[in-house]
Amino acid sequence: MNPTRAEIDLSKLAFNLEQVRRHVHGEYPKRKVRICGVVKANAYGHGIEEVSKKLVELGIDFLGVANYDEAIRLRRLIPNTPILVFGTLIHSKLEPSKYVSILHKHNLTATVASYDTAKFLNDYSRRFKSRFKIHIEVDTGMRRIGLDHKSAFETIKQISALKNLELEGIFTHFATSEEKNKTFSKLQLKRFNKLLGDLKRAGIEFPIVHSANSGGVLDLKGSYFNMVRPGLLLYGYYPGSGVRNKIKLKPVMNLKSKVTFIKKIGTRESVSYGRKYFAKQPEFIASVPIGYGDGYWRLLSNKAKVGINKKLYRQVGSVTMDWIMVALGRKYSIRIGDDVLLMGEENGFNIGADKLAKLCGTIPYEMLCAVADRVERVYLNG
Ligand SMILES: Cc1ncc(COP(=O)(O)O)c(C=O)c1O
Repeated sequence: MNPTRAEIDLSKLAFNLEQVRRHVHGEYPKRKVRICGVVKANAYGHGIEEVSKKLVELGIDFLGVANYDEAIRLRRLIPNTPILVFGTLIHSKLEPSKYVSILHKHNLTATVASYDTAKFLNDYSRRFKSRFKIHIEVDTGMRRIGLDHKSAFETIKQISALKNLELEGIFTHFATSEEKNKTFSKLQLKRFNKLLGDLKRAGIEFPIVHSANSGGVLDLKGSYFNMVRPGLLLYGYYPGSGVRNKIKLKPVMNLKSKVTFIKKIGTRESVSYGRKYFAKQPEFIASVPIGYGDGYWRLLSNKAKVGINKKLYRQVGSVTMDWIMVALGRKYSIRIGDDVLLMGEENGFNIGADKLAKLCGTIPYEMLCAVADRVERVYLNG
């Protein structure tokens, strides 16, 4: 059995959701703000099925996924909770009636980012008794997908005339809500609010309005409307240093392996590919079976620390596909089979995905999503 695994502590997921709820509902005690738990990209590497099951058990209102494949897979397991698909359809290449019937069968909620998509869903939905639920995405500055806020009013008026669609929601997405400087987020919010006002005056209102991702949840009270869409917060990390420590969080994933080999090397001997580390004195080196093939980044070479028993040790030499090496010093007390913490928080060590991300020049999202499929997910406290 490969000792490398990602331990996913579902009680920490519950803790984080509770913190989000208190924060959001504390702001608006009288108003119901729904929570859409974002579980796309295999729940940020944590396992979409187990995480979604737990969130549903905890009473989550919506689940958000990136594409229809994720949604269909999830619907098999989660029969009732609404699933909002953030991605858009590439309808020109589809067999329309077949495709739309799959979406209907799985009771999915589609994001509509263009009039064409709305028309497509409308035309092929005619045969179904229920109307197709859609949320319209408005691009207020992210410039990814969505109706351009400048022309969205006219397009939404056209979409609202389509008879086989249920306009359940409208949303936008922030480009910089995790930053301390909220100028651009506030501009996005202003554009969104203006559109909502114009639509309301024209008699078009949506039951569900949302915009807040994790950064918005933490730091932009005016962005909640009546649903928020946190992803990273649920997994126990802050989306950026500008919004740290606003609520307490616990990292849900501990990436772990075991010491499997120990040897002594001499002064000026090198370790691993490319000879990027030389021993200054005789020392013991442990080998741990995790590498970039498991999602432990090669950019961490000679930079990261790992936790073994009660101490932090330096990872030395290049990270290889399947192994890393750890400097134990001149004497050591660890044994083959001892647990190694590579990412996460345990025994007072914090080797968070955010810290490792900094060493690699990336973001915690990418560190978590990088954990490879070959790493077994072990669920705790379900
Ligand atoms: C449309 C949408 N909403 C919400 C989120 C969740 O973002 P975060 O993980 O920053 O909370 C994402 C993720 O990028 C997203 O694409």
